[in-house]
Amino acid sequence: MKKGFIIAIDGPAASGKSTTAQLLAEKLGYVYIDTGAMYRACALKAKKMGIDINDEESIRELLDDIDIRIENHNSKNRIFLDGEDVSEDIRADDISALASAISAIPAVRYKMVELQRKMGEKGGVILDGRDIGTFVFPTAEVKFFLTASPEVRAKRRWLELQQKGINKDFSEVLADLVKRDNNDSQRALAPLKKADDAIEVDTSNITIEEQTDYLYQIIRSRMEEECKSS
Ligand code: CDP
Repeated sequence: MKKGFIIAIDGPAASGKSTTAQLLAEKLGYVYIDTGAMYRACALKAKKMGIDINDEESIRELLDDIDIRIENHNSKNRIFLDGEDVSEDIRADDISALASAISAIPAVRYKMVELQRKMGEKGGVILDGRDIGTFVFPTAEVKFFLTASPEVRAKRRWLELQQKGINKDFSEVLADLVKRDNNDSQRALAPLKKADDAIEVDTSNITIEEQTDYLYQIIRSRMEEECKSS
């Protein structure tokens, strides 16, 4: 028995996906699955084990016994890697680039996608990532693709780093973000791409509250349509 819709939110780095997905999940009473955090956890594991990201064989071995879990604590997602809470560690700046590199390895994607499908198949979930609407759940009931100009997105990431006490040049943050988007868009398997039936939302000039409200209204009206037709 399905517990509700599967909602996909895709888009490039720092487009506001995770904040919006978290707020929407709270409003709808849905489970939020942050798929980026899962690739980040794989990257952290490789880093901890001293494995080179280009060493595909060792990366494949690392996947054999990896244990990644997402739990909700006080309305916030916590991510556990092999039993340890790594929610903060996976947000380190170097992990972003490592996650982008490791996520292009097919064995990593197949493993993470299998987990994501298991977590989401019953519905009542919001997943955010790069390939949710195109690859993980192509039949998701509602799909969004969030965008914003690279400068606006880099400004958001730069502010996040500042708040953590990390001083990085804005130009470097922008360059890293553009590089990561290029990697993510150009990989062979499940690249970052808008699904044909996704609703594109440019978040450059709207607040998180406005974008959450806009997506919420669309989801509610889809739910009403579904009720009427069933
Ligand atoms: O939060 P931010 O937008 O910076 O990144 P993220 O969503 O945490 O994702 C980190 C990296 O994981 C991305 O740059 C992608 O390379 C990868 N990723 C992916 O390949 N597929 C997904 N469904 C989610 C993330």
